[in-house]
Amino acid sequence: MMLKEQILQLKKEKNAVILAHFYQNDEVQDIADYVGDSLALSKIAAGTDADIIVFCGVYFMAETAKILSPNKKVLLPKMNALCRMAAMIKADELKKYKEEHPDRFIVTYVNTRADIKALSDVIVTSSNAEKIVENFKDKKIMYVPDKNLGTYLRHKTGYDIDVWPGFCYIHDMLTISDIKKKRKEYPDALVLIHPEAPLEVLLQADFVGSTKQILDYATKSDAKEFIIGTDEGIIHALKKNNPNKSFHILANGLSCINMKRITLKDVYESLLHEQHEIKVDQDVLEKAQVALDRMMRLS
Ligand code: 13P
Ligand code: SF4
Repeated sequence: MMLKEQILQLKKEKNAVILAHFYQNDEVQDIADYVGDSLALSKIAAGTDADIIVFCGVYFMAETAKILSPNKKVLLPKMNALCRMAAMIKADELKKYKEEHPDRFIVTYVNTRADIKALSDVIVTSSNAEKIVENFKDKKIMYVPDKNLGTYLRHKTGYDIDVWPGFCYIHDMLTISDIKKKRKEYPDALVLIHPEAPLEVLLQADFVGSTKQILDYATKSDAKEFIIGTDEGIIHALKKNNPNKSFHILANGLSCINMKRITLKDVYESLLHEQHEIKVDQDVLEKAQVALDRMMRLS
């Protein structure tokens, strides 16, 4: 039997669901039950009646699924698939910040580990951040850990938002000159960019949104050509949904190494042996759940 068929059979036998982020390798996206952005995948994880969730993404995503569905077995096929941005904030640093700034309301990007979520007031993703911070417009906010998304939120809302100095290494390398170059090459194309890019770059875009919002925008648009400012993994879903449109990646090297670690063989092995299970300390899980539940209610 082919690996793909073996995975599908095991999935049935074990009542498992496979979730994959848009940045995953194409063949992994193709065997998934759902492919989505952080928010959509969190919602599916929270509502599934499967016994096992195989999460094809990075650690914080599988960990978020575990917090939202604590009674399920959540597997991450490669345990070293770690978001580099999530590593840019440590719990003791955030605790210290909170002691020094007790008046700041902590709004935390989902791209963080459970111990950071446990110290937060509310969690947001790239697709609901603006909507959620609106609820806290009268508060002084600290946005962690993505300085770019935080700066973009401050720019869009005008609220009092302090930002942590973290960033995503692939989106942060995008520049205005990348846009100028690509617009010259493809003058009819619209530029769609993820909000983890620097503000000056986002201001040159035709549309700014999460991975799913980029996909929806390109699908609904009358335009036929697009320049994409996010991980190249999303091109697979863009092309699948829009076979008659063309897509060009904004810059070379827009590929998150950690997102590409998981192969079909890893999915098969983790499901077969039920290995690489996500565990979260109960006390941390309960605290993180409060901040995540708040996001779910507000999004
Ligand atoms: P999305 O929630 O937009 O899919 O983003 C996740 C991510 O890690 C972007 O780098
Ligand atoms: Fe983290 Fe950036 Fe990779 Fe997204 S693309 S998982 S933010 S390192």
